[in-house]
Amino acid sequence: MGSATYLQKFREDASKVRVLVVDDEEFLRSIVRERLEIAGYIVEEASNGNEALAMLEGSVPFSVLLTDIRMPGMDGITLLGVWGKRCPGTAGIVMSANAELDTAVHALKMGACDYITKPFNFDVLLITIENALRKKDLERQLDDYRANLEGKVKEQTDIINSMYVRSIDAMIKALEAKDFYTRGHSHRVTLYSIAIADELGVTGQEREDLHRASVLHDLGKIGVREAVLNKPGKLTELEFAEIVRHPGTAVRILEPIPFFHPLLPAILHHHERFDGKGYPSRLAGRNIPLASRIMTISDTFDAMTSTRAYRKALPVADAIAEIRRCSGTQFDPEIVPAFLACQPKIVIPDEVSLPDGFEEAVPASFLPRPV
Ligand SMILES: [Fe+2]
Repeated sequence: MGSATYLQKFREDASKVRVLVVDDEEFLRSIVRERLEIAGYIVEEASNGNEALAMLEGSVPFSVLLTDIRMPGMDGITLLGVWGKRCPGTAGIVMSANAELDTAVHALKMGACDYITKPFNFDVLLITIENALRKKDLERQLDDYRANLEGKVKEQTDIINSMYVRSIDAMIKALEAKDFYTRGHSHRVTLYSIAIADELGVTGQEREDLHRASVLHDLGKIGVREAVLNKPGKLTELEFAEIVRHPGTAVRILEPIPFFHPLLPAILHHHERFDGKGYPSRLAGRNIPLASRIMTISDTFDAMTSTRAYRKALPVADAIAEIRRCSGTQFDPEIVPAFLACQPKIVIPDEVSLPDGFEEAVPASFLPRPV
């Protein structure tokens, strides 16, 4: 847009272009005012910084702040700083004497759009104002563009993430189809983990990450042969080694997708034991991520109370007794009481089946509230 057109645009709606002239010299203010009003601007005056700031209250915003530097009371530089914080959309212009060039440069650093040296030619003043307005307008356009761009990027990222989640969900379903006995396992582990987390007071992103990690924790079993997963008898050493690799396999599947990064430590270490005898890293105590220490209880409890290829389900009461017995060795002794006492705050989806005998054996507080 050419400069004439630009100013013309403002002149057509002059109420939008309000200029505040701040100078302790009344004569200079009045002559500047007269010239700017002839050019189509609405002009107001203040004799120092304090007076200028007082004019901000309840006033229609000023498009331009044209200020002297040296004034009694608040000087122009301080005024620019305070004004810029309260009205960042105003174009600040400093009027300085030649001798004050350093100060004018300082004013630019403080956010002024431009400066003009006194005495000035009024045509130059008009061009300076116009340039400052254009600069502010471009800044606004850039801000709008950035805001829109951020929104668009977020929208696209959400779409991509939801596609990833759907693909991974499909993989979980494929895993459950392959491993008949773990059908519904990740759902139940998620249910128990969240109930424990709520009892422990885990909230926000940490709770959300635990939820996601619980759903995905056994994803790596997709890399374990079906014959091993569903083997009725005891596993050989090699077969067990194949099982042990499943947390690492899950991490390798999820690692390329940044969206899943916060979940990886919890998934990798969901088979660690509190006494350091677990796998894959033999981490112990609080070196094991909190989410893993929670998930390992949920995971073991569900494994014990589900029928597997190699054994029948344990009664729920026996499984609870086993969790208690292993508190401090396999499980974090500070999380076991939460497992025993937790009160779920989520509604169980219809498709999730609980182990037989669960309701009789589990403390009432653990059971989900009726919908
Ligand atoms: Fe696992």
